[in-house]
Amino acid sequence: MLMDKDILPKIVSLCKRRGFVFPSCEIYGGLSAVWDYGPMGAVLKKNIKDVWWKTYVEQRDDIAGLDASIIMSEPVFKASGHLDSFTDALIDCKSCKKRFKIEHLEKKAKADHCPECHAPINPKDIQPRKFNLMIKTHLGVLEEEAKPAYLRPETAQGIFTNFSNVLNTLHKKLPFGIAQIGKAFRNEVTTKSFIFRTREFEQMEIEYFVPPDKAEENYRYWVDERRRWYVENLGINEKNMKIREHSRDELAHYAKACSDIEFNFPFGWQELEGIANRGDFDLSCHGKTSKQDLTYFDEKTKSRFMPFVIEPSAGVDRTFLALLCDAYREEEVKGKTRVVLGLNKNIAPYKIAIFPLLKNRPELVEKAKSLFNDLKKDFVCIYDDTGAIGKLYRRQDEIGTPFCLTVDVETREDKKVTVRERDTMQQDRVPIEEIKKYFRDKFSN
Ligand code: GAP
Repeated sequence: MLMDKDILPKIVSLCKRRGFVFPSCEIYGGLSAVWDYGPMGAVLKKNIKDVWWKTYVEQRDDIAGLDASIIMSEPVFKASGHLDSFTDALIDCKSCKKRFKIEHLEKKAKADHCPECHAPINPKDIQPRKFNLMIKTHLGVLEEEAKPAYLRPETAQGIFTNFSNVLNTLHKKLPFGIAQIGKAFRNEVTTKSFIFRTREFEQMEIEYFVPPDKAEENYRYWVDERRRWYVENLGINEKNMKIREHSRDELAHYAKACSDIEFNFPFGWQELEGIANRGDFDLSCHGKTSKQDLTYFDEKTKSRFMPFVIEPSAGVDRTFLALLCDAYREEEVKGKTRVVLGLNKNIAPYKIAIFPLLKNRPELVEKAKSLFNDLKKDFVCIYDDTGAIGKLYRRQDEIGTPFCLTVDVETREDKKVTVRERDTMQQDRVPIEEIKKYFRDKFSN
């Protein structure tokens, strides 16, 4: 991975050019810190989520899936502490009129100067205003009767409010977890670095409920397990990841302990995922506010207690960006620069691209289309005949397609096609009747 600062603009440009990510509402000038995922991006994002879901919901019997609502009522966030504590303290600069977080004044600039325009700030004016990050709306037809509601700032709260429902339907014994993938919304103040910090994003969260005396060991287990997942299931280079444990004064209002999995982004080491020991904070608060009993009865020990929660909380968009940064490379090939997204072949948006060598030869086009129609039943494929072969290869290299298959003038005679591998650019001549087995073998190891 190239790690110079210039790589981010290159990735942003590739994302636009090749249909991964577009600015939201672009034809109207865009919407700040909100992005749309194009044809390649939508598939890549789905692949990330599918791998996560498969690993934790389908392949384990101690975690169940959930799809809770995005809009949630006010008491949920009163109980969770988000109404009172999910705030950034803001300061306005009287000179440049920019608004920034108080910690930026402390960390990035001289404590009495604006971090943007460097104008002196009168100490009298350093009276931060609290700004809640949640996005509020109203439900109801008549304004005077409308009830406030919020777009959830984390998927976690839908899991806590459904804790009893899931327990009562599945009769699970502790430890067990509830997993959810979904959108979350935050009216972020600082929104930089492309899709790293956005106002609408997606999370993949597990709330893993454990007896209090098992919290520490499960917390350690999840830190290791989540790091393993990025390396083994997504193919991210482990050298680009590290664990950072939070100090006491950094912990969120609900956390007893927290570790971040950090990734070496082009703009520095930053949080990719947080794994927190949330104690019994959430279930206790929701139990108290809703007046529902959210305790757990352990049949074995005949004891009743409030479970503790270990929460591995990952961002889909941040994982997407980490994958692109990890996979992006430039190579010199015959005096020209080849841009390659060296994505893990199971994560790449398309697995096989199929071309006729010459688009003005109907018999080649027909054979390529018929192979496409057959292979797409088993693999995610793309057919393309809109350029010369060199251009088609480069296009697929840039979107990370592991294999290109070309039907050429010899195909009719020898009943073989050329398969070209993305990373090595090595070409194999493969009999058509063996082509499915050939790809099945390639994707299984
Ligand atoms: N339930 C715990 C929680 O939400 P968080 O550290 O605020 O904890 C977890 O968020 C993950 O969600 C982060 O590690 C990041 O990957 C992602 N995330 C949070 N805020 C984000 C934002 N504004 N834009 C993109 N991803 C975000």
